[in-house]
Amino acid sequence: MGQFLLIANWKMYKSLSQAQAFCRDFILLSRGIKKTKVVICPPFTALSTVNASLQNTGIKLGAQDLFWMEKGAYTGEISPVQLVDTGCSYVIVGHSERRQIIGETDKIINNKLKAAQKSGLIPVLCVGETLEERQNNKAEEIVRGQLLSALEGVSVTESNVVIAYEPIWAIGTGINASYQDALEMAGLIRQTLGKISNNKIAERIPLLYGGSVKTENFAAFLQGGLDGALVGGASLEADSFFNIVRLCENA
Ligand code: PGA
Repeated sequence: MGQFLLIANWKMYKSLSQAQAFCRDFILLSRGIKKTKVVICPPFTALSTVNASLQNTGIKLGAQDLFWMEKGAYTGEISPVQLVDTGCSYVIVGHSERRQIIGETDKIINNKLKAAQKSGLIPVLCVGETLEERQNNKAEEIVRGQLLSALEGVSVTESNVVIAYEPIWAIGTGINASYQDALEMAGLIRQTLGKISNNKIAERIPLLYGGSVKTENFAAFLQGGLDGALVGGASLEADSFFNIVRLCENA
């Protein structure tokens, strides 16, 4: 499995029984997939259950967030070490919902990214502009700034980070960015990554698109330049998520 990476972000959805039912159905559907690496990011409450369901499959487990300390008096927080212990190999960092609703700053995101890597988790760093920023021609400046601050002091390689370009105006709105928009931003992201590592590494860092990805619009994104998707709404049902996997398998 390789070539494409599809990450399911379940956000704050699913009971334990719903999570188990998804895994049962999705594992059956996805038997024999070859070109697509799949990561499922359930809410914290379902990590253990999903981890148990995914044993002996090639499907990986990820978390949606983490705290940057390994242990201590941090009521309500979850450490990277605990995530590894629960079977996670990936963790989403800097999702726009956390930046906007919870108020996560670039500094917090930088701390979380470093802590994830230190524990051996692969951070999936989300970057993206608001509609207003795009309309004011600020999209590139914002995304470049988010990347540089999140990766400050980090030595990036093709296997220790994943970048997800998620324009905020496209998340959960039903309005996806065009392939052209995503490709232009992918170019800027790779160029920025090239400056902080080198072009060879930057070319190989997995770069995903996220924002209202569905079967109906994702085929257009598989023409090159992107390595997969971070999928919210369409990852909640085994059928709809598998249809996106199938697009990757057939690309
Ligand atoms: P969406 O969410 O696919 O529901 O737009 C994507 C995300 O927030 O990661």
